[in-house]
Amino acid sequence: MRKKVVLITGAVGEIGQALVRQLFDEGTNELLTLDLHRMPAGLAGQSTHVEGDILDQTLLTRLVTEFEVDTIFHLAALLSTRGEFAPELAHKVNVDGTLMLLQLAAEQSQRSDRSLKFIFPSSIAAYGMPDLETKGRDALVREWDWNYPTTMYGCNKLYCELLGIYYSQYYQQLAASRPAMLDFRSVRFPGLISAFTVPSGGTTDYGPEMLHAAAQGRPYACFVRPDSTLPFMAMPDAIDSLLKLAAAPAESLSRRVYNVTSFSLTAAAFRDRVLSAFPDAQISFAPDVKRQGIVDSWPAGLNDKAARRDWGWRPAYDVDRAFDEYLLPNITRRYQK
Ligand code: NAD
Ligand code: SER
Repeated sequence: MRKKVVLITGAVGEIGQALVRQLFDEGTNELLTLDLHRMPAGLAGQSTHVEGDILDQTLLTRLVTEFEVDTIFHLAALLSTRGEFAPELAHKVNVDGTLMLLQLAAEQSQRSDRSLKFIFPSSIAAYGMPDLETKGRDALVREWDWNYPTTMYGCNKLYCELLGIYYSQYYQQLAASRPAMLDFRSVRFPGLISAFTVPSGGTTDYGPEMLHAAAQGRPYACFVRPDSTLPFMAMPDAIDSLLKLAAAPAESLSRRVYNVTSFSLTAAAFRDRVLSAFPDAQISFAPDVKRQGIVDSWPAGLNDKAARRDWGWRPAYDVDRAFDEYLLPNITRRYQK
């Protein structure tokens, strides 16, 4: 008999590591993890880990032959800044990789006659604000507003959301009888900040980079203007939102893609919070015109009313709790070691 597992792709990334730790601690699921890289020592043994590429069709087929996949958290991706340096590769990993996995999940759903859950983290990159005036005025965008991304990554995320809806609702729509469909669910995340990992390749990275640099006594030059505003969220809330959405009864969901957020901050306010904890930190601003353009195209805040109403979403960490109870104490401890 095949072992029943939760599959996590991109499990060695920032969200992946936090999700593996949380699911392992809950102890209710066998975990199968897939990433290009090996698991860091602290997480080794918490999952059956496969070092491999989501674009490797033979590998994916082998995995579903060996394991009965119950739920997929599909996290593997190239993030926004990296995607601008290698747009075609980003498209391959972010779109082709997702399509392969959706098809596999659809086939598994049909074979087992049961809707396999496919949880997909999308992003504020799916939005494209036309100018700063609109960004300032329309400060809480709804899911269907301004869906005009300006990055390859944002285009990939928006399209994959649509693919997920297609595979859940319309795949094989002309067949004589409709077998079980997969159950795609997605959250559009703001910039995430972890106390335990440092991001790379993203455009919201200036926030966490500033914080981790200050805690290590390293100077930091922020690559956006002080007035740049983006929504952010502490990593425990990101994990909570993925798990809550995955657990929500299907009948309570009025959409398949939901905004989730916690707090919005200017880069200057971010610096002030960092300085209040690390008064000697050397933080300067040296905006990079191109990355600034991406940040300016992303919304200042997200309207997450639908998630709150449908599946009880509510961040545990507002800005004060995120800094005072999660980020600052854990980051300080981490670098004191
Ligand atoms: P990350 O870059 O830390 O992790 C991504 C992981 O995917 C890496 O470990 C990488 O090795 C793996 N990966 C990349 N290409 C792969 C491939 N071809 N095959 C197998 N593995 C591959 O990113 P993260 O912050 O953990 O983000 C995870 C997901 O959440 C991504 O889909 C990202 O777009 C989304 N997301 C993240 C944020 C954020 O602020 N961190 C915000 C919105 C959405
Ligand atoms: N943090 C991500 C990035 O900057 C947003 O999805 O790419």
